Amino acid sequence: MGASDRAALVAAARAARAHAVATFSGFTVGAALETADGTVVGGCNIENATYGLTLCAERVAMFKALSEGHRHFVAVAVVADTDAPTPPCGACRQILWEFGGDLEVVLANLTVETGVHRLGDLLPLPFDARLL
Ligand code: THU
Repeated sequence: MGASDRAALVAAARAARAHAVATFSGFTVGAALETADGTVVGGCNIENATYGLTLCAERVAMFKALSEGHRHFVAVAVVADTDAPTPPCGACRQILWEFGGDLEVVLANLTVETGVHRLGDLLPLPFDARLL
């Protein structure tokens, strides 16, 4: 994915972050998934009073996209207001891998891109349906 496509995906993740429900942590995150046909689906983190049912922005974006019929994905952008990159947590890596495969993972904050990775590098030796 070229720099301008990455910038557009990051912009979508920044926009999605505005809707975050981070009532307890105050840590707001936005994600944007790009499908194989170029559709962009955003998501934000959603926290709740039992804490443990929190969903990260990446999983919200993926479940939204799946629920809208998308099945093929090329990239995901993740944005938080931090100097250091905010990479997907372990649970999100698993879900992104199972439904998105070896995505390009673009990390950014509110002003700059902070890293570009392949999901396969972030989740080595994954468990998935091929092993069932
Ligand atoms: N969070 C995300 O949404 N994505 C990440 O990649 C890291 C963490 C959320 C979960 C929780 O609502 C808050 O950030 C603090 O962990």
